[in-house]
Amino acid sequence: MSMKKLYPILAVLMIAAMLLTACAPAATPAATVPPTQPSAASGKLEIFSWWTAGGEAEGLNALYKIYTAKYPQVEIINATVAGGAGSAAKAVLATRMQSGDPPDSFQVHAGHELIDSWVKAGKMEPVTFIFKDEGWLDKYPKGVIDILSYNNEIWSVPVNIHRSNVLWYNKKIFADNNLTPPTTWDEFFSIADKLKAAGVTPLALGDNGIWASVHLMESILLASMGPDKYRGLWTGTTDWAGPEVKSALETFAKVMKYVNEDHSALSWDQAAQLLVDGHAAMTIMGDWTEGYFKSVGWKPDVDFGYVPSPGTKGTFIMLSDSFGLPKGAKNRDNAINWLKVLGSKEGQDAFNPLKGSIPARTDGDRSLYDVYLQSAMDDFASNQIVPSLAHGAAASEGWVTSFSDAMSLFVANLDVAAAQDAMVKACQTAGVCK
Ligand code: GAL
Repeated sequence: MSMKKLYPILAVLMIAAMLLTACAPAATPAATVPPTQPSAASGKLEIFSWWTAGGEAEGLNALYKIYTAKYPQVEIINATVAGGAGSAAKAVLATRMQSGDPPDSFQVHAGHELIDSWVKAGKMEPVTFIFKDEGWLDKYPKGVIDILSYNNEIWSVPVNIHRSNVLWYNKKIFADNNLTPPTTWDEFFSIADKLKAAGVTPLALGDNGIWASVHLMESILLASMGPDKYRGLWTGTTDWAGPEVKSALETFAKVMKYVNEDHSALSWDQAAQLLVDGHAAMTIMGDWTEGYFKSVGWKPDVDFGYVPSPGTKGTFIMLSDSFGLPKGAKNRDNAINWLKVLGSKEGQDAFNPLKGSIPARTDGDRSLYDVYLQSAMDDFASNQIVPSLAHGAAASEGWVTSFSDAMSLFVANLDVAAAQDAMVKACQTAGVCK
């Protein structure tokens, strides 16, 4: 059927949908509603990500829905590779990129992961023109544009801001045991002892991908040294051989006495489910956990509570999911339209309330975000912002990998001296420390 014949049908369908959802008693007369003409773009669009868990998948689908309404004749290929933090997806992506078979657009963390892995390697097209065409240059915080930029060009479109340093807790377990959430690691250990005595696992961990332990470690490092020194870890000004790193490793080793025994068999969302099932009281994970909780019907401030991970109040460990335009994308025009959707206000306000993240844009509609997300917006605006290691913002992927290797050994043997030595070397190998 030709597009001309399709337009009236689509217009009628859209008007019917509007009438069904309208809250106002008096419906707008059909004749005054201008039909939004869907684009004639056609072909395929392959989107590569690791968003398969509860919350993530819903957010991604919300973006697809908007795209399909605008480009109904484009077939979306949802190329996902399960595994939190891209633990399995990144290797698949690397193989495809090396063999000249890029997806049309792929998920990549803003910061070093984007710039060091793909931009400096000459694999991406700049997307500055999209920011200019869409009038976005003043719609994103400067700090976010900065970590997407290299050589005076912007290299990807950010869809969100996530927070890494959050402690989530089961409100009922805390109430039943007369506990308040910990603000320091000392408080954490005293609460954890009480929970253990009551037969509850204090902290849920799911590190079948070692990134989840790296994730926990970055929160502990921040707590042990504060934001300035934490930043210095990634620029070579904070000594990896120093006492704060040692004390962070000691804290981590102690924390491992309070986690579920099967941690190395579970994923991050399975660990979150331990809270939902009442088996564990707390977990330290990024705020995609709130997307997960909501996807299983749990409500913020009712079923689950949240506080900055112990000792990190006032600091926001940030990361951002973005999508880029690889050179040689088979469906380049469709990919550009995809980037326009996910960078738009409409796209971000549909995606983020489900994903458990806040918009990367500064003009998101606050009323669409729940009580946790509004608190994250406030903290992002007022806290010290530092980059996440586990999620590509702070360091190159090579460094993340050698740090992760150190953590794998550490989780197995809890040898503080050996782990600290390996971390000193990881910084040197990355070329950041002498
Ligand atoms: C992070 C990513 C988040 C979330 C999480 C768990 O790396 O930035 O969007 O998906 O992994 O998969």
